[in-house]
Amino acid sequence: MSIKLSSGHAMPLVGFGLWKVDNATCADTVYNAIKAGYRLFDGACDYGNEKEAGQGMRRAIDEGLVQRKDLFLTTKLWNTFHAPEHVGPACRRQLEEYGLGYIDLYLMHFPVALKYVDPSTKYPPSWSTDLADVPIQATWQAMEGLVKDGIVRSIGISNFQGSLILDLLRYAKIQPAVLQVEHHPYLTQPALMDLCKLKGIAVTAYSSFGPSSFVELGWAKALTNTVLFEHKTVTGIASAHKKTPAQVLLRWATQRGIAVIPKSNNKERLVQNLQCTDFNLDTKEIEEISKLNFGLRFNDPADYMKPPISIFA
Ligand SMILES: NC(=O)c1ccc[n+]([C@@H]2O[C@H](COP(=O)([O-])OP(=O)(O)OC[C@H]3O[C@@H](n4cnc5c(N)ncnc54)[C@H](OP(=O)(O)O)[C@@H]3O)[C@@H](O)[C@H]2O)c1
Repeated sequence: MSIKLSSGHAMPLVGFGLWKVDNATCADTVYNAIKAGYRLFDGACDYGNEKEAGQGMRRAIDEGLVQRKDLFLTTKLWNTFHAPEHVGPACRRQLEEYGLGYIDLYLMHFPVALKYVDPSTKYPPSWSTDLADVPIQATWQAMEGLVKDGIVRSIGISNFQGSLILDLLRYAKIQPAVLQVEHHPYLTQPALMDLCKLKGIAVTAYSSFGPSSFVELGWAKALTNTVLFEHKTVTGIASAHKKTPAQVLLRWATQRGIAVIPKSNNKERLVQNLQCTDFNLDTKEIEEISKLNFGLRFNDPADYMKPPISIFA
């Protein structure tokens, strides 16, 4: 199953997220994920494992499991490379690490420009509190250049809210094909979802399991809220369909045309997550899950501007 993007390319509805996939196991995990049927991989400079992810993908290609054209590689421009003169070199370095010839989808990771960090001093550069004087328009125009250069097929945005999207649409010569945002039953963002539909921007949900991704990071917000896998609304619907809570959470998004990119370091869970489109929830079940929304956002740049920054360092 795939989504037709405004760029004309097709993006798989279910992919594999690479954040917090250990460097030591990343190549094998990616290779096994391809064997299990995954075709979309969601990487980022910030995840620090692009080289290893590329090794896994290239091994699968070299062994004839897939061809390059069967894979969909998403990756992201990090905040310290927003200045137009840094966009091309940053993207080319990432592309070289993957060794896959082109990037299918290149996202601006955050609408936040941070002071440039020379990759020879620190890579990936991670978060800082030093802002750079680079407007989003300049970064977007440099990203449009990557499409013209043929190294990127589609471009998009991540962690943008409605008003910023409307601003970008004023000057974008290439429309953002995808918005990737935090989206789970505790943070449903209905107005943002509607805006994207209206403007023909496909949405990819990240952190589809809500608190679970952040429990392992020890975040208070995650530890003090019910894990979605244990929420009785979710478990009730899961048993009614003989599916796991994870599959129900993913289906709640995919059934509304929202792509998902769950991450798992576990072989069985990785397979289970891919099998989340072979059943349907009814409208009442979708609504019941959506009603769990209370605006709980884990990934908020405002939090990272308060030193000390611990999480992404
Ligand atoms: N654009 C952005 O700013 C941004 C931000 C965050 C994430 N992302 C992307 O989105 C991807 C997914 O988000 P995420 O990594 O935050 O979290 P996620 O996929 O919502 O959740 C991952 C957590 O759920 C567990 N898990 C996975 N499958 C499970 C299953 N079937 N049953 C029970 N537990 C399961 C994982 O543990 P195990 O590994 O032990 O299974 C891990 O603790 C990331 O990898 C990244 O590619 C993008």
